[in-house]
Amino acid sequence: MTAARDRTAAHSVTAAEAGPETGGVPGREAPLRIIVVGSGIAGLYGAVLAAEGGASVTLLTKGILSQSNTGFAQGGISAVLGSDHAAPGDSVEAHIADTLKAGAGYCDPAAVRVLCTEAKGDIARLESLGLVFDTDASSGARALGLEAAHSAARILHVGGDSTGAAISSTLIDAVLARSGSVEPGPGGPSPRHPGGAGTITVFEHAFMMELTTAAGRVNGVRYLWDGAEHLMEADAVLLATGGAGEMFETTTNPDVATGDGVAAAWRAGAVVADAEFFQFHPTALAVPGSFMISEAVRGAGAVLRDDRGYRFMPDYHADAELAPRDVVARSIALHLSATGAGTKGCVYLDATVVEAEQGAGYLAARFPGIDTAVRGLGFDWTCEFLPVLPAAHYWMGGIATDLHGRTSLPGLFAAGEVACTGVHGANRLASNSLLEGLVFARRSVTAVFADFLHTTDCLDFTDCLDDDGPAGVARSHPNYENESLPAVHALPPLQALQAEVWTLPDFDVLDLRSLMSSCAGVLRDGAGLDLAAKQLDSWMAATGSMTHARAQTGQPEQKEIERRNLLTTAGLLVAAARRRSGSLGAHYRSDSSEQQSAEQTCRPTIARIKESSRS
Ligand code: SIN
Repeated sequence: MTAARDRTAAHSVTAAEAGPETGGVPGREAPLRIIVVGSGIAGLYGAVLAAEGGASVTLLTKGILSQSNTGFAQGGISAVLGSDHAAPGDSVEAHIADTLKAGAGYCDPAAVRVLCTEAKGDIARLESLGLVFDTDASSGARALGLEAAHSAARILHVGGDSTGAAISSTLIDAVLARSGSVEPGPGGPSPRHPGGAGTITVFEHAFMMELTTAAGRVNGVRYLWDGAEHLMEADAVLLATGGAGEMFETTTNPDVATGDGVAAAWRAGAVVADAEFFQFHPTALAVPGSFMISEAVRGAGAVLRDDRGYRFMPDYHADAELAPRDVVARSIALHLSATGAGTKGCVYLDATVVEAEQGAGYLAARFPGIDTAVRGLGFDWTCEFLPVLPAAHYWMGGIATDLHGRTSLPGLFAAGEVACTGVHGANRLASNSLLEGLVFARRSVTAVFADFLHTTDCLDFTDCLDDDGPAGVARSHPNYENESLPAVHALPPLQALQAEVWTLPDFDVLDLRSLMSSCAGVLRDGAGLDLAAKQLDSWMAATGSMTHARAQTGQPEQKEIERRNLLTTAGLLVAAARRRSGSLGAHYRSDSSEQQSAEQTCRPTIARIKESSRS
């Protein structure tokens, strides 16, 4: 599988190997230069489409290409492909309704409509790149899984439970087909010189330090690669750097998920939205290092039990184990607290009922990856319960974008988990994230071209658009009043929130994770959030701004920037959470009986403060 390869150097670019001759913009001699940062589904897909459109693309990823949350995704990708490919009674409208409901009514309805109606075209595009979804043995049609809060089975999957890895591998192949694979020799591309039109230059182990700006426009990226700092300029930068699960003690995310995109965009002055909404996956195996047990297992009939064997979820929600993810994660935490098990306890996922119902061998056949993993850890899940706990999984908040991936900074686009389109509201519906990566990466790339060309003619993505779906892109920078981007409510600088230092003088990432898990995790209250704010402020004051650090000690190393990024994202999350006194979706305030309805709230937790203002 392609996913395992590690190329520690850049791949040279073969001349205009793929991509139309237009090369970009009429009247410009050079093709559009687009930097894509990140190699999850949004980054890879965006890079492929941008190259197909004739851009000169540079793809920077801080690990190897296959290192991303996408590669970890098990359950699949949700999509309704039309009545002849859907479960009986299912429809795009039902997918829209489920997404809005799971999002606690806080989603941007326009974004949700785009996501669900345009799914069909992007799924077809993935298939045209070589992805083959699992099929039903009897009908031969694409097999459809069920996951929590979906009213019908509509989850497409590959290899049973290795959908993300398969998508990643397919897209990596598509990227490499446009990049060549020859090591750069003398005269080959250097990090400062990307390849020609229709090509993708890949730099693995290239860590984005900062976005660069000129005249209010993002015009490039400063990054570490091969032991040195580099600067690359571009006409547009597409951030697809994923999430920030590393803010918490246990996470389903890979260790590259350190919030680099949100932090860099924030430092550059971009608007960040909905930062208080962080989703916890209910069923991560409660072992060191953790391991996600897909929601599809509960979709297949597995139930949750406490240490007495009692099935407790029906006490918390009528849909029990198939309630929205925030509800299940919260119910586990509340049940542990109510039964006195507290933070040291765990609950149990009983998949034995599935094996008993479906017949011997079902679990291994339907979920081969999970089966191998749990057996490797010593569990026979056909006859014993799995200890599980919620783990940090997905950040609904992120860099605020319009429906075309445009951020508040001209030249900067964002897609996938790093972005906040409003599509997930206060709690993401299961298996909507891979879909989001596809749909909004494609829309972002289309918008990059549109912004330069003032036309979409150079790109033919019509095969990605549903017949009835929204087509085309806005031809100028967005009018945020007309778009669905929420209004900006500036937050005060974080250190002004609390003058007092809480307790720990030296900033340590392990302490940060522990603080965030205790004070800003599944259950939150005002006192805990205040405590977290104090501590974060104190650490921020101690670390100072990046500019300050640079002046004092020279260029910080990658690890140092990552830990600063985590501190920044934690600060954003806590500041936003403190501003929301009631509970909504994944933001649950145990000290408030007030369950906010989305209508009661504006979208208040937007911040636009440059780091320099905190130094
Ligand atoms: C899972 O398979 O449970 C994860 C799917 C998702 O996060 O959407």
